[in-house]
Amino acid sequence: MSPEELAALIRSRRTSMVVDADRAVPRDVVEHLCELAMWAPNHKRTWPWQFALAEGDGRARLGEVIADAMEAYGDSPEKVLKARGKYLRTPATLVVGSAAGDSADRTAENRDAVAAGIQNLLLAATAHGLATYWGSCPKGANDVVAALCGFEPGTHVAALIYLGWATHSPEPPARPPAHLHII
Ligand SMILES: Cc1cc2nc3c(=O)[nH]c(=O)nc-3n(C[C@H](O)[C@H](O)[C@H](O)COP(=O)(O)O)c2cc1C
Repeated sequence: MSPEELAALIRSRRTSMVVDADRAVPRDVVEHLCELAMWAPNHKRTWPWQFALAEGDGRARLGEVIADAMEAYGDSPEKVLKARGKYLRTPATLVVGSAAGDSADRTAENRDAVAAGIQNLLLAATAHGLATYWGSCPKGANDVVAALCGFEPGTHVAALIYLGWATHSPEPPARPPAHLHII
């Protein structure tokens, strides 16, 4: 791949859930994306990535635990109701967690490694023709989502990534120019 082709792939990745709702995302494709996430740099080689796939009825289960947690947290009934059906909008949602480290610094570095890995995953998904949408875990829902996913206790849920075959790519939001400070 040339640098120009890589740049084009990076620029073409969009946060989008405009997908073919009837076309499943094969598990082996998702497993491949997870494997590529783990090629990101990782200080001390702690391998902090945790992955769980919500598909089929699992999407409703994910929505239920999140909606219940949001209700307990005090979110409005409208937001709670929306959350219950949220994960039915795409054929799959990949949950990515970052395991706690043995110190606050290591936990922060784990999260950096997981975020770097998520970008690998998003770019690879884009190359496959998949739309991806990185959503944050709602406040108060981290631990119930981690438990539903079977993640290690103390895991930070870094991303809920909606996945589906892209039918359209939105216009890219304008980026400010990168400013390089010289020291
Ligand atoms: C850590 C993180 C959390 C995000 N959480 C959300 C979210 O909860 N809801 C949302 O609409 N977008 C979320 N996004 C996606 C951003 O809104 C999106 O990347 C941004 O609008 C730029 O669009 P682009 O990715 O298409 O370039 C998140 C992105 C990151 C990196």
